Amino acid sequence: MTSSTEETSGRPSLRSAPTLHRRCPFCNIGIVNDSTIVVAGATGNLGGRIVRALLERGARVVALVRHSTARDKLERLQKLGATIASVDFSSASQVTPACSGASCVVSALAGLRDVIVEAQTVLLDAAIKADVPRFIPSDYSIDFTKFPPGENRNLDLRRDFHKRLDKTSISATTIFSGAFTDMLTGQMPLLLFKRKRVLYWGDADQRMDFTTMDDTAAFTARAALDPSTPRFLRIAGDQLSARELTAGVSKVTGKEFRLFRAGGLGLLGTLIKVARTIAPGEKELYPAWQGMQYMRNMFDGRAKLEPLDNDRYPGIRWTTARDVLSARQDS
Ligand SMILES: NC(=O)c1ccc[n+]([C@@H]2O[C@H](COP(=O)([O-])OP(=O)(O)OC[C@H]3O[C@@H](n4cnc5c(N)ncnc54)[C@H](OP(=O)(O)O)[C@@H]3O)[C@@H](O)[C@H]2O)c1
Repeated sequence: MTSSTEETSGRPSLRSAPTLHRRCPFCNIGIVNDSTIVVAGATGNLGGRIVRALLERGARVVALVRHSTARDKLERLQKLGATIASVDFSSASQVTPACSGASCVVSALAGLRDVIVEAQTVLLDAAIKADVPRFIPSDYSIDFTKFPPGENRNLDLRRDFHKRLDKTSISATTIFSGAFTDMLTGQMPLLLFKRKRVLYWGDADQRMDFTTMDDTAAFTARAALDPSTPRFLRIAGDQLSARELTAGVSKVTGKEFRLFRAGGLGLLGTLIKVARTIAPGEKELYPAWQGMQYMRNMFDGRAKLEPLDNDRYPGIRWTTARDVLSARQDS
């Protein structure tokens, strides 16, 4: 005779995973899953959220960190319940044992060629050597398969890494999430709160994709635990044009915002070239011209995400741009 709802429903009993309970402070939330997932970039903004989302689902998480990573970041991950593996990201012989036994390696690394192409290649080789069946690269972007190389430096690096990834037999899944919605109230130069303007290039009715970091992390965690994901998954918590953003921000703030057309996409292209010449900052991850390249790709519509896989996993409540703007208003 069985004694719990989970046992009678045929799902695994929580009592069969005592170690997991001790390790994971979130085990009472969501479905218990005893997979081991390796997360590279776990100390980062998105990576930390992915770690948390995985632990909430009962997974064991090995956080791959570099030897130089600050102690307080490691303590935060340990408090969440992750196991730390400190490695040299240029050494496959150090990374391979850390990947052993995992069902998926998730990368949330951020950087330029040395990270996105070189360190991720070491990670990929290590995952393959350790017989890890699945790999999620650090993409989390607009759909760069829809436009040719040469238009966006940071996305070209991902494309270069994909050339290596797609030559291997590991089952890889890229998650395209559009722009992080969180940036609407920060780094992204679209909503000019003081001037009550919404800046746009080209067409005010071109819709763009936005997903919050938390939602991207929640979906990535689900994908990491899903043994049969396709090569690409596309998500968007919201899809809005500059005109729709103007209506939304006006409603939330109670102030009348207006559209501000900075110019056409041709002008933006010229400005990108000028900005890159005057202030190249080639060693920086996000020099001004790089941000402008993202803007151009979003406003020209080719990188638009479709079809969406938002409904692939039940229980994710997608955060809208309006939710993010309301939270800013309340804070
Ligand atoms: N769609 C969007 O709008 C959007 C916006 C921002 C980011 N993203 C993407 O999201 C992903 C994660 O970005 P993020 O903002 O979360 O990055 P982040 O906060 O800067 O974190 C970067 C992570 O990479 C690690 N790292 C950096 N250089 C490394 C190296 N040489 N070797 C090993 N580890 C290294 C860092 O480790 P330490 O803690 O040791 O430094 C950290 O864990 C990236 O693919 C990024 O492009 C997308």
